[in-house]
Amino acid sequence: MFFNLNGKRALVTGAASGIGLAVARRFEAAGANVIYTDLPDAAPDGVTEDAYRQLDVTDQVALQRLAAEIEGSKLDILVSNAGIALEEGVLAQSDVEAVRKIVEVNLIGGMLVMKHLAPQVRDGGSIICTASAAAALAMPEFGAYAASKSGVTGLVRVGAVELGARGVRVNAVCPGTIETPMTDASSNEGKFTKQVCALNRIGRTSDLVGLYHFLASDESAYLTGQSLYVDGGLSAGYPQHMIDAVMS
Ligand SMILES: NC(=O)c1ccc[n+]([C@@H]2O[C@H](COP(=O)([O-])OP(=O)(O)OC[C@H]3O[C@@H](n4cnc5c(N)ncnc54)[C@H](O)[C@@H]3O)[C@@H](O)[C@H]2O)c1
Repeated sequence: MFFNLNGKRALVTGAASGIGLAVARRFEAAGANVIYTDLPDAAPDGVTEDAYRQLDVTDQVALQRLAAEIEGSKLDILVSNAGIALEEGVLAQSDVEAVRKIVEVNLIGGMLVMKHLAPQVRDGGSIICTASAAAALAMPEFGAYAASKSGVTGLVRVGAVELGARGVRVNAVCPGTIETPMTDASSNEGKFTKQVCALNRIGRTSDLVGLYHFLASDESAYLTGQSLYVDGGLSAGYPQHMIDAVMS
């Protein structure tokens, strides 16, 4: 089987919902033994309590505890995916509490996952971080979110050069607008994406899991430090129908 994950051990943060849950399930389907982690006390539907650990990625004590538990058996695959989006307002009127919270979870949380769990990834393993198309594409009222996800792409490059000597690869997936509990198709963002991206539709988690699977597998053994956009062409440019609409 290509992209075989048989016998590999994976850990996914933010795995109770949306992209993280879909990625964790895909890894299991490909043969991996997956540790699901997220904020709720109980495992999500269909996941055994054995396979689940409660984890807030901003909580260093909890991360240290989890690292100690993993020590010895190590991870082959680490997915740093937990993240939030909150209403921020335009920069001139930004809600500073929301800004701090977004940066705390998306960027500092991502750094803490690297600090405590990257050492638990065995030599030759793969780390995948969920960034966002917002790292490259500006949208009004997404200042902290865009900055936090740009930060994640920087973190990935630094991780790649620091961990490359151990053969550990670090890459980011940058999703466009994906239908999950965070973003629904009928929201303004959903409707807007449908209009402006080349493929004319909002994305689904099933559009993303193949890339995470590839990055987790040994088939991507020479790929590191990259941020890969899965956004239906959102960051590629303007489709003809948008140009026609603006010019008419
Ligand atoms: N849905 C989109 O359109 C989209 C687009 C680009 C990037 N992303 C990113 O994808 C990732 C997953 O988002 P999603 O769309 O699946 O949303 P989601 O809300 O379905 O899932 C996010 C998960 O992260 C968890 N989480 C939040 N704060 C946490 C914390 N402090 N510690 C641990 N877990 C925490 C939540 O409990 C939730 O289960 C996020 O990083 C998000 O920023 C999403």
